[in-house]
Amino acid sequence: LSASVTIDPAFVVGPVRPRTFGSFVEHLGRSVYTGLHDPGHPTADDDGFRGDVVELTRELGVSTVRYPGGNFVSGYRWEDGIGPVGQRPRRLDLAWHSTDPNLVGVDEFVRWCARAGVEPMMAVNLGTRGVQEALDLLEYCNVPSGTEWSDRRRANGAEEPYRIKMWCLGNEMDGPWQIGHKTAHEYGRLAAETARAMRMVDPDIELVACGSSGSQMPTFGEWEHTVLTEAYEHVDHISAHAYYWEEDGDLASFLASAVNMDHFVDSVSATADAVRAAGKHTKRIHVSFDEWNVWYQKRAESRPPSGDDWPVAPVLLEDRYNVADAVVVGNLLISLLRHTDRVHAASLAQLVNVIAPIMTEPGGRSWRQTTFHPFALTARHAAGEVLRLAVDAPVQETAKFGPVPVLDAVATHDTETGGVVLLAVNRSLTDDVALGVDLRGFPGLRVAEALTLSNPDHSWSATADDATSVLPRTNTTAKVADDHAHVELPPVSWSILRLE
Ligand code: AHR
Repeated sequence: LSASVTIDPAFVVGPVRPRTFGSFVEHLGRSVYTGLHDPGHPTADDDGFRGDVVELTRELGVSTVRYPGGNFVSGYRWEDGIGPVGQRPRRLDLAWHSTDPNLVGVDEFVRWCARAGVEPMMAVNLGTRGVQEALDLLEYCNVPSGTEWSDRRRANGAEEPYRIKMWCLGNEMDGPWQIGHKTAHEYGRLAAETARAMRMVDPDIELVACGSSGSQMPTFGEWEHTVLTEAYEHVDHISAHAYYWEEDGDLASFLASAVNMDHFVDSVSATADAVRAAGKHTKRIHVSFDEWNVWYQKRAESRPPSGDDWPVAPVLLEDRYNVADAVVVGNLLISLLRHTDRVHAASLAQLVNVIAPIMTEPGGRSWRQTTFHPFALTARHAAGEVLRLAVDAPVQETAKFGPVPVLDAVATHDTETGGVVLLAVNRSLTDDVALGVDLRGFPGLRVAEALTLSNPDHSWSATADDATSVLPRTNTTAKVADDHAHVELPPVSWSILRLE
């Protein structure tokens, strides 16, 4: 097969936003306990946080981390997680049928963020709680001093306020599984009133209203319309969540998952703009795609414990990702970048152990899953402006999405260095794609690096014993001549081409 793309510096979508490369840590399974936090681990710091996980988080290039949930936040009492660790209560976590020992709370999490060099993104509980508790947490975090909660923070060791910017108004409130699940009207009113009051405490915060938990939700579209009709003037972003997995061996549809993500962002943007027009608003609402990933939801590891069993940090949602999963993750990032004009933040769900690029053994080794690599390379090298491409590629039939192009790609242009980065996937199950790239808008560029992630056996997964035998490798076919690049992309592959 052959395909071509034209890259031109004039076709700017918008800036590459660091917040596109966010992630997510929930009190769920072994994400916090034995993931981030493992006091017996040889690399643990005074808070009990693993140094090896901090290093991997930095290497992954994560910009923001959303916390503490997820479904967990809808039953969470944030006050349980402050003060002397030995005096904190153990609580039932109804979302994941677990016990939370509250060894990690907001103060520890903010210290972890500082170590990992990431921006915290905090979620408030609008499931079992409401305006007042959200205000208390905001006061604890962002008010300098002289009030009950700000002085409690200072007494707990943090003299300076945390000045957390990004705040999520609850989590997936459209989902019947959510503790305190609400109708769109109920939630829209609560989100608006919570947001209005939170801004009275701190006018500089950015607020994210809950959108749909997936485009397959029966209320998708209607939910966003109703919530934004209530809350438009009070919020900045509407959230989107999407998980993809290979169902019934249908790899072609799975590889085309970004088609759904494109549709999701376009639909939510159109809905927000319709509310903008009807309400005579002037500002625009942006999308916070604050949960996205591959997640095999039907596997046994995704089922919470039941009955009398309320374990601490059970093994939950510990998907092992193969090469095809990594290709899809790379493609989803291409979709997010392509929508940089509307998607102003995103979070790979999640960071450690739970549907995560980083895995740990309690007290032992940590390693990178296949999905780590496209994320880390994109976060490291995508810079400057995102460019819209003209793509000409053959199509392949998929059961879920009909005919889809075998090639998907996006490019970024660093206007300071002049460098161009092309990110591309070949979704064909069987054929190489010979890709030609018209670079006449960028005379004189040369290949600085070309890496491709693929494997004849795309079901290969990393383990603690072997996390390195399949890595992105130099693609020796990449060449530039006469301002045209050429590269061969193997089937089921993700590639990055850096031109300087
Ligand atoms: O990320 C796992 C779960 O997926 C989150 O708790 C929830 O928000 C979503 O349904």
